[in-house]
Amino acid sequence: MKTAAFPFLKTMDDFEFDFQPGINKKELLELNRMGFLDKKENILFVDSSGVGKTHLATAIGITCARSRVSTYFVSFESLITQLKKALMENRLESRLKFFAKYKLLIIDEIGYMPIDQDSANLFFQLIAKRYERNSTIITTNTPFSKWGEIFGSPTLANAVLDRLFHHSQIVSIKGPSYRLREKRAFFESQAEE
Ligand SMILES: Nc1ncnc2c1ncn2[C@@H]1O[C@H](COP(=O)(O)OP(=O)(O)OP(=O)(O)O)[C@@H](O)[C@H]1O
Ligand SMILES: [Mg+2]
Repeated sequence: MKTAAFPFLKTMDDFEFDFQPGINKKELLELNRMGFLDKKENILFVDSSGVGKTHLATAIGITCARSRVSTYFVSFESLITQLKKALMENRLESRLKFFAKYKLLIIDEIGYMPIDQDSANLFFQLIAKRYERNSTIITTNTPFSKWGEIFGSPTLANAVLDRLFHHSQIVSIKGPSYRLREKRAFFESQAEE
């Protein structure tokens, strides 16, 4: 649990499924039973801000870590920074191995900032190393059709997506932001005016 570096300790029990009816609770509880790990499947959480992507990814990660599955949580930005630094310091291979070895790697917030092609290439190398060997969970607020813009290269985006998609479950969360739930009445009254 300690080495996994979760951003917060929130579990499936802490998630209010009633607030987000667009989510299939059964599907999420099934994912939380960890069957995806044996099949080396990936889970891709996609959609707008505050709908619970990071919460659910973390919750599944906590379940895995508690079952002694080697698990690591990293933001996309930090991952890219670390890989770039390793490349400059001539130790890319060992850094790639570090991220590739985890049975479950959670990469949070892909697409919140665009990256250059060299960085996209480093990311591709990691995904290629993990492909069909270990499971990866990603969260993104950028529709997959726009990933070419994040990576500055449609070809690289396709190569990454192809590998992520092949054995995967996509959880698309359409719904209101939980962060703004208390502000909703305010927004609604504004809209009426
Ligand atoms: N249905 C829910 N029940 C309980 N807490 C929730 C729910 N949805 C979101 N939250 C909480 O709201 C906050 C925002 O959720 P989260 O960080 O998972 O959003 P996100 O989809 O990752 O958003 P972003 O794209 O901005 O990163 C977190 O503190 C999370 O625990
Ligand atoms: Mg998030």
